[in-house]
Amino acid sequence: MKILVTGGAGYIGSHTLVELLRAGHQVVVFDNLSNSSVVALERVAKISVGGITFFKGDLCSPADLHQVFSQHAIDAVIHFAGLKAVGESVEKPLLYYLNNVAGTANLCQTMVEAGVRMLVFSSSATVYGDPRSLPLREDAPTGATNPYGRTKLFIEEMLRDLAGSDAAWRIAILRYFNPIGAHPSGLIGENPRGIPNNLFPFITQVAIGQRPSLSVFGNDYPTVDGTGVRDYIHVVDLARGHVCALERLATYAGVLTINLGTGQGYSVLQMIQAFRHVSGRDIPYQIVARRAGDIASCYADPSLARQELGWQAEYGLEEMCRDGWNWQRHNPKGYVESN
Ligand code: NAD
Ligand code: UD1
Repeated sequence: MKILVTGGAGYIGSHTLVELLRAGHQVVVFDNLSNSSVVALERVAKISVGGITFFKGDLCSPADLHQVFSQHAIDAVIHFAGLKAVGESVEKPLLYYLNNVAGTANLCQTMVEAGVRMLVFSSSATVYGDPRSLPLREDAPTGATNPYGRTKLFIEEMLRDLAGSDAAWRIAILRYFNPIGAHPSGLIGENPRGIPNNLFPFITQVAIGQRPSLSVFGNDYPTVDGTGVRDYIHVVDLARGHVCALERLATYAGVLTINLGTGQGYSVLQMIQAFRHVSGRDIPYQIVARRAGDIASCYADPSLARQELGWQAEYGLEEMCRDGWNWQRHNPKGYVESN
């Protein structure tokens, strides 16, 4: 199939390109490069067989979307493009609603006009808010706690309305838990701009000496050691989940909502310990106050993914740390663009 990958130059998108090409699909990347680099696409090409077509465009521009659909006979869309910084979304909610929600509406409108009805969407476990019970099944109550999370919830609802209006739609809503790590080649990985918000890139930057120490946000949660517990998933496993979802949609009409997680939770201290073990580096840290909006624990029930997609995570925490560290060591400044 010919797949349009919005946000394909980003962290999860670039890893998914590798898996799509490996599965024999053709890919067209649509990205405005607001949080990514074309170098990621050059690196994907090095790892892969098969070409990548790149279209620099913005979801907020219907003209850009029309152009890409008129230039290419697209069969399906995997939609990663969006803004994802929780703190920024609190400060600039309209930016998030315009970019994520209105941008997705523009994309879907163009799909309707082009007669394309197959879509895989990047949602997040953040839509579960503060979980009442664990592990999280897809039918758990939802309720986001910040504008970023609400954009995911609103888009999910919009996609369900769309499918309700036209039975031709085939939509997979994938709720990611915490993607970390990198491709084992060390050529592509996460490239955060500025100070990382998330735990794993912060740890790798401490390990490489770019930051002096890690702040652990609270050690008084009701968890194994008092620190927050999350379901970390290797980004390559996550990427493979998208190929499985696409294959499933070939025979599924309507909306499939599926968790992509491992089902296993690890605390912040367990993560630090695993990373120290794999990298041989010390990770100095201090315990500080809880971060506003954080929850104690979050991990998936991944059984629906196994049942519906025939997918389950293959990599464990050690491999996530190994590959994330390999990427950080070989690319201490992330992607460096030559002028
Ligand atoms: P990323 O920032 O690396 O990738 C997003 C890509 O979208 C970037 O390349 C960016 O340039 C592009 N983009 C943003 N706005 C755009 C627009 N208006 N038009 C065109 N391109 C645009 O993020 P990621 O970590 O790869 O996340 C991909 C998706 O998965 C996002 O929708 C994110 O919300 C979701 N998600 C991510 C995580 C995570 O922890 N990384 C967790 C859950 C869900
Ligand atoms: C965060 C976002 C969430 C988003 C997800 C993936 C918040 C409140 N939530 O979730 O909406 O979907 O990223 O992008 O921002 N931690 C530290 N020190 C740090 C960083 C994190 O101790 O410097 C702890 C956190 O308290 C948490 C765990 O590490 O217990 C994981 O944090 P993080 O990687 O930011 O992911 P989430 O909190 O799950």
